[in-house]
Amino acid sequence: MDTTIQEKVNAGFPRLNEPAPAFEAETTHGTLRLADFQGSWLILFSHPADFTPVCTTEFIAFAELAPEFKKRGVELCGLSIDSTFSHIAWARNIEEHFGVKIPFPIIADLNKEVATLYGMVMPGESKTETSRCVFVIDHKGILRAMIYYPLTTGRNMQEILRLIDALQASDKHGIATPADWKPGEKVIVPPPKTTEEAEERMKAGYETPDWYFSKKSL
Ligand code: BEZ
Repeated sequence: MDTTIQEKVNAGFPRLNEPAPAFEAETTHGTLRLADFQGSWLILFSHPADFTPVCTTEFIAFAELAPEFKKRGVELCGLSIDSTFSHIAWARNIEEHFGVKIPFPIIADLNKEVATLYGMVMPGESKTETSRCVFVIDHKGILRAMIYYPLTTGRNMQEILRLIDALQASDKHGIATPADWKPGEKVIVPPPKTTEEAEERMKAGYETPDWYFSKKSL
């Protein structure tokens, strides 16, 4: 039996480190499924509506950073509760007026199916528009990070890129990253879990002001 939208809602909103909700959707690049992105990381992001100014600045910023995301193995996919015709017209308008081509697909979520699955509509803000949500999904389809911004505030794309760098550095090196970390800066060595490890940590050669806090260069 097919899963209904209501069953998907009842299953709850997406949670970190669990499989991202599967979807199949109409997009400006044809029908796409979450599974089509398997093997790449994916930034699935929603915007409130086509032909709105803040969203236009965000699309330009995402398009300009698309090559940087690509270098990191990350695909982009937008979404709003608008039709493919609207998305196509808006992307053409952005290219005509701002000289920026939108290289990534945009989901036309007219029935709010994907928005509902991911909890992108915040009725306190708008019942008819998706908020500015960002879902970072890794190459295995696991949801790794979520960011929610309100309608009135455009997102910081450099921060989204920094988040990808931090997640990929954590995966590769088994470390964590401190506040405001950028590639090239020292990282956090996970704290010891036993008394014995805590004693050893003090002699491990890291920058260790105290047993629970160690930094090292990659
Ligand atoms: C905008 O993108 O400009 C916008 C969209 C919805 C509400 C407020 C601003």
